[in-house]
Amino acid sequence: MWRDKNVILGITGGIAAYKSVGVARRLVEAGATVQVVMTAAATEFITPLTFAAVTGRRVRTTLFTASDEPIFHISATDNTDIIIVAPASADFIARMVAGLADDALAAIVLAAACPVLLAPAMNTRMWQNQATQDNILVVKERGIRTVGPAVGALAEGFGEGRMAEEADIVDAAEAMVKGKQTLKNKRVIITAGGTQEKIDIVRYLGNRSSGKMGYALATAAAARGAKVTLISAPTGLSRPADVEFVPVVSAEEMRAAVVKRYPKADIVVMAAAVADLRAADAAIGKIKKAQLGMLKLEPTPDILAELGAKKKSQWLIGFSAESSDLIRNAQGKLEQKKIDVIVANDISRNDIGLGSDFNQATILTADGKVNDTPRMSKQALAALIFDEYTPKA
Ligand SMILES: Cc1cc2nc3c(=O)[nH]c(=O)nc-3n(C[C@H](O)[C@H](O)[C@H](O)COP(=O)(O)O)c2cc1C
Repeated sequence: MWRDKNVILGITGGIAAYKSVGVARRLVEAGATVQVVMTAAATEFITPLTFAAVTGRRVRTTLFTASDEPIFHISATDNTDIIIVAPASADFIARMVAGLADDALAAIVLAAACPVLLAPAMNTRMWQNQATQDNILVVKERGIRTVGPAVGALAEGFGEGRMAEEADIVDAAEAMVKGKQTLKNKRVIITAGGTQEKIDIVRYLGNRSSGKMGYALATAAAARGAKVTLISAPTGLSRPADVEFVPVVSAEEMRAAVVKRYPKADIVVMAAAVADLRAADAAIGKIKKAQLGMLKLEPTPDILAELGAKKKSQWLIGFSAESSDLIRNAQGKLEQKKIDVIVANDISRNDIGLGSDFNQATILTADGKVNDTPRMSKQALAALIFDEYTPKA
């Protein structure tokens, strides 16, 4: 998709500036021509030389250059498909709100004749400050799109303000370049992570799901304009800030959270790995080792089957992790549970699936299509699912 596309990648003065090298690299590798424009503050964090090496183009850092070429900040976006500002500092967002054009990047954004995507990144207090929150609202009202920030590790601890992941920024940009707001105002519920079923105060039954697929789906749906609720079992991931986030622990809690929101949902994607079994009676204290063998287990609720049975107009997408008979097992689930799309993946391979950043799936639909995807990033698979396997508005 990025072949023949021109991107202006704006870098402002934040710690996350170094991560934008990854954004530039991904875009270049995907075939885009990337022109980097840096604020003076950005050059304090990373040198223009790095971006020039990655993009193969001279980086712009100043507004005033004596040259015979057309006035750069005006002509720059004539043939540009998108401006991505990543990281977008609190200061830069404020300058945009005020309509300032006091450096090359601000002038280009003010004169932009193409869509603009911001990936804000800053300290939690800077992000949560009313001034920044007001500014974000204003830029959004003006049609500027944002991706992130996430809740996660920051230079100074943990909190809201971490720049969205590189792959999520590229996917959000891709959705915009394709003109895709295909899920605008659709209510999308996504479950993620592996549920934990309490045995006693220290032990639980769980699984190795990382939650990466579900989180990638949540970000991809938000990038397409959906109102996303991410119902997440415990994970070690940064939480996307542009979604409603509902933390849960057990299968029963996940069931309750999904079922409550189901009547109003347009699309439900069950990407969570729900534990199959739980203790019939969770103990109050710690069970003695010798007694553990007598632990009685019972099945957890089958959330997908319940959603299938209660289905009205909702579009239901399930995931099926299999280590053998992939297609036959997935086909069985598709039919029994009234699911519209099943994304089946082979978890016996350790280069994809559980914990990995990559996935390779066989996608089955209720109308009988069976398609194999190539091995791809979980972000790319999430994009594919929403672009190819959800109803068109
Ligand atoms: C060490 C350090 C880290 C900073 N990190 C951030 C940051 O992550 N996000 C942010 O909005 N500002 C951050 N700032 C403040 C900006 O660099 C400052 O507001 C600057 O004026 C931004 O300029 P610009 O918007 O033109 O790039 C940081 C400053 C310092 C000294």
